[in-house]
Amino acid sequence: MGIPADLGINEAATADGGTASGSGAGRVGLWLVGARGSVAATAATGLAAINGGLAPATGCVTAQEGFAAVPLPGFADLLIGGHDISDVSVAKRVEHLVGAGMLPQHLVSSVRAELEEVDARVCPGYQPGQIGVSQAETARRLARDIGEFRRDHELDRVIVIDVASTEAPIDHLPEFDDLDLLLEALDDPARAILPPSSLSAYAAILAEAPYICFTPSPALNVPALARLAAERGLPTAGQDGKTGQTWLRSVLAPGLAARGLRVLSWAGANLLGGGDGATLADPEAVAGKLQSKNRGLQALTGGAATPLHIDNVPDLGETKVAWDHINLEGFLGSRLTLQTTWSAYDSMLAAPMILDLARLMALADAAGETGQIGELGFFFKDPWGSEEHAFAEQSRRLLDWAQEAGARIDATSAKSFGQVAQSVVAR
Ligand SMILES: NC(=O)c1ccc[n+]([C@@H]2O[C@H](COP(=O)([O-])OP(=O)(O)OC[C@H]3O[C@@H](n4cnc5c(N)ncnc54)[C@H](O)[C@@H]3O)[C@@H](O)[C@H]2O)c1
Repeated sequence: MGIPADLGINEAATADGGTASGSGAGRVGLWLVGARGSVAATAATGLAAINGGLAPATGCVTAQEGFAAVPLPGFADLLIGGHDISDVSVAKRVEHLVGAGMLPQHLVSSVRAELEEVDARVCPGYQPGQIGVSQAETARRLARDIGEFRRDHELDRVIVIDVASTEAPIDHLPEFDDLDLLLEALDDPARAILPPSSLSAYAAILAEAPYICFTPSPALNVPALARLAAERGLPTAGQDGKTGQTWLRSVLAPGLAARGLRVLSWAGANLLGGGDGATLADPEAVAGKLQSKNRGLQALTGGAATPLHIDNVPDLGETKVAWDHINLEGFLGSRLTLQTTWSAYDSMLAAPMILDLARLMALADAAGETGQIGELGFFFKDPWGSEEHAFAEQSRRLLDWAQEAGARIDATSAKSFGQVAQSVVAR
């Protein structure tokens, strides 16, 4: 029993920090759990299109002027791999997204070879219900995949991002508070104590990889695992990407409050199809999503009534539609209402954020940051390490943090980012 101290996979990729890549810059692995899903496949398509000069990085926060002097890895320094339990390849998934009207055919045809290369780097994920295999063994296998990815591709670091199907919240068990008890349970082939997202997070810890949770799944919300990640000095960030309706709410709510208007109720409805819609049709899986969507709005409105429901509408395909009805009280008790309609291809909002998060987490890791990076709460409905939900304040904190972390990268760690970072330090 115990945590494997060394899987033989965590050594630095190359003696020079892995700077000997084609571009001369350090390389960052982006390990996507759920690599064949819509969000992941869209991120892979976008990365290939940007790197091929076929599309600008519109929608990427880190491509904006404010980040120009921050020593982030370039898009060309990112390499995607990952885990999935689906047999539908990344290229096939992208074809489906073209059929849904989300991605342009001409662009996808131009990056097909790159998508096939990504798919060749996808390993089998954790499928619950495996007979006779303990979760400890599975976690070691998943961690080895990440370590081999780092070694085989001479990567300086690998960032793990969970973009797998949403899971239901879990009931608390005594083992979740006590690492020794948890490890004992993980060693028992007859038990499956951790949900898949938490097992993937544990594998990231074993692989010493910074970890990000883009889903509302249980993941690192198992206290013993969260402590282990902190003890190992890993930077982490989460959770549940703030891409559409929740983002708009975090923009509007502080503005209404600043005008002295009191929110009486903020009712919402979500209609969506695609893989995420099908998953959220399950009443247990949707519970976690409802909780994470509501937490920020509750904090921003001081506890107004915030009823919300989510419906699976398969014919909407990859489009998500969100309606909000906001009932407000103003001067002398007057009532006013605001109604919003949001309609967007959900994965087109999420994918650039995945690329941003990989670049920013690589920065955090190179700058020696550990623990929950609250400033990355900008990207999440349910931020880890921060109580701040107001978007303008989150934007300010993100930029300040990125600039400070960039300035802290000394000449040694700047090697990881190659010439760009070194020139920033030399200034
Ligand atoms: N705007 C957005 O799209 C958005 C915003 C916030 C959060 N999210 C979250 O991102 C996640 C992905 O969304 P999507 O639209 O890509 O969903 P999807 O259904 O298209 O893809 C999920 C992928 O995860 C894989 N998977 C399931 N269990 C796995 C396991 N144990 N190990 C590895 N892979 C596994 C599935 O096979 C599938 O390929 C969801 O949890 C969703 O709630 C998405």
